[in-house]
Amino acid sequence: MADLKNEIQRRRTFAIISHPDAGKTTLTEKLLLYGGAINLAGAVKGKKSSRHAVSDWMEIEKQRGISVTSSVMQFQYNNFCINILDTPGHQDFSEDTYRTLMAADSAVMVIDAAKGVEPQTRKLFKVCTLRHIPIFTFINKMDREARSPYDLLDEIEQELGISTYPMNWPIGSGKEFQGVYDRNQKEIIVFRAVDELANGQHEVPSIEADLNDPALSELIGPYHYQTLCDDVELLDGAGYEFDMDAVRGGALSPVFFGSALTNFGVEPFLKEFLNMTSSPLPREADCGEIDPMRPDFSAFVFKIQANMNRAHRDRIAFMRICSGKFEKGMEVYHMQGGKKIKLAQPQQMMAQEREIVEEAYAGDIIGVFDPGIFSIGDTLCAGSEKFLFGGIPTFAPEHFNRVTQVDTMKRKQFVKGMEQIAQEGAIQIFQELNGGMEEVIVGVVGTLQFDVLEHRLKTEYNVEIRMEGLPYEYIRWIENKEEDFDPKKLNLTSDTRRIQDLKGNYLLLFSNEWSIRWAEEHNPTLKLAEFGRW
Ligand code: G4P
Repeated sequence: MADLKNEIQRRRTFAIISHPDAGKTTLTEKLLLYGGAINLAGAVKGKKSSRHAVSDWMEIEKQRGISVTSSVMQFQYNNFCINILDTPGHQDFSEDTYRTLMAADSAVMVIDAAKGVEPQTRKLFKVCTLRHIPIFTFINKMDREARSPYDLLDEIEQELGISTYPMNWPIGSGKEFQGVYDRNQKEIIVFRAVDELANGQHEVPSIEADLNDPALSELIGPYHYQTLCDDVELLDGAGYEFDMDAVRGGALSPVFFGSALTNFGVEPFLKEFLNMTSSPLPREADCGEIDPMRPDFSAFVFKIQANMNRAHRDRIAFMRICSGKFEKGMEVYHMQGGKKIKLAQPQQMMAQEREIVEEAYAGDIIGVFDPGIFSIGDTLCAGSEKFLFGGIPTFAPEHFNRVTQVDTMKRKQFVKGMEQIAQEGAIQIFQELNGGMEEVIVGVVGTLQFDVLEHRLKTEYNVEIRMEGLPYEYIRWIENKEEDFDPKKLNLTSDTRRIQDLKGNYLLLFSNEWSIRWAEEHNPTLKLAEFGRW
């Protein structure tokens, strides 16, 4: 029991989010390096490596040099057991990216110091705020010409609606980058690009710095010295309050400046981050909150990945353990399936290696072999008490295509393929009101999923499809549950379309925000939601 508590307490599970190219992969590599999880930098991502080579449909990834799926990496550092959830970094990211955040207890947002807040960061950030998880900001690439730190903080506050607290403060940037001033320790960490591969060393020299000591000006130059003194005075006086409760509630983001590529500021960031984040958080279920320390195992499925091995058309269901301990071969109750099952071939990603796990604890992510029984959001639990975790939201797709099959004789394969791929959560399928499956509307979060769909239907189900873009940009779930509710009676603009999902829920497709407002204004009892439920 003490063992269980200890194991769970030392776990930290977080996701790294960023716009492509801000440096997420580089930062992840350096973090893994500290944990001794990998020996060589540059080994993390499938960009050039062959980590995902087993999966055929991921040829698309390889062709485009991007990573479509997200994975989990575990490593140990200072007696912490750290799980990093990697979110796909390309513009064409999918719903998987969003769902991964559902499994994390906190998020690290990487921002390019020259670019500031970019579109994808904004989208992912929205999901973080939905869950009120702590968000830490790493402002990267200080070794390059950067925007003013004040500007960057201001932009984060304005654009993302979160307060910020700079934990350290940069001294210059680019060629002039001298290092950072640690506000807590009151010391300067001097910038030296450490090549950890050459000497196996990660530590960056730091010196205690009394800002009243003019000798400092020799170290960083009189101009930087004066600027730093002014900046620190301004920051200390400006009422940037550090409030741990606000951090925990996701209202205040601690900000760190650094340079992942040169391994500068990464370890101090990791240390502070681990201090400030909490061990696995309780999760909401229909019987109340589930405490992670509860000895009985429980978990929910947040991601399903298909066809790691094409010969077997198998799937891996990734689940986040919410309480207790998982042991290999244990029997658990699958709530949605209504029966006991044995979790087969449990796997975990240790850095880039897939390993069979013997045991795992609350906070960990495991992938289990799925013969096609799991859906996203499913609950698994052991012990006498049975409950359901609150579902995972279905995120609003932003691109829509009408999809028809070329050869109508292959209807069965078409329906099966579409349904299975939709079950994995890569696409969402909709129909006309009372329509059949001859013609479906497919909605996706990132347009790459259309290519993946076409490719997979062809290679796995031997079905060719025709796709035609639809001009809709917004989707809303209709939440009205009244018996006499009839979507046909709604007063809508002529370019708004009424559809339903496979479960029979009604939705509306809009071409612009103006039409959404029209619908709301002309149908006072209409209740629209931006998220659906699995
Ligand atoms: P991502 O996962 O967020 O998409 O970004 P990634 O880490 O792949 O980094 C994108 C590019 O930015 C890479 O260069 C990387 O080397 C560079 N980079 C990351 N962190 C820093 C930093 O602190 N300083 C500087 N100067 N550059 C940084 P690339 O040339 O696109 O790729 P590569 O050929 O080096 O892999």
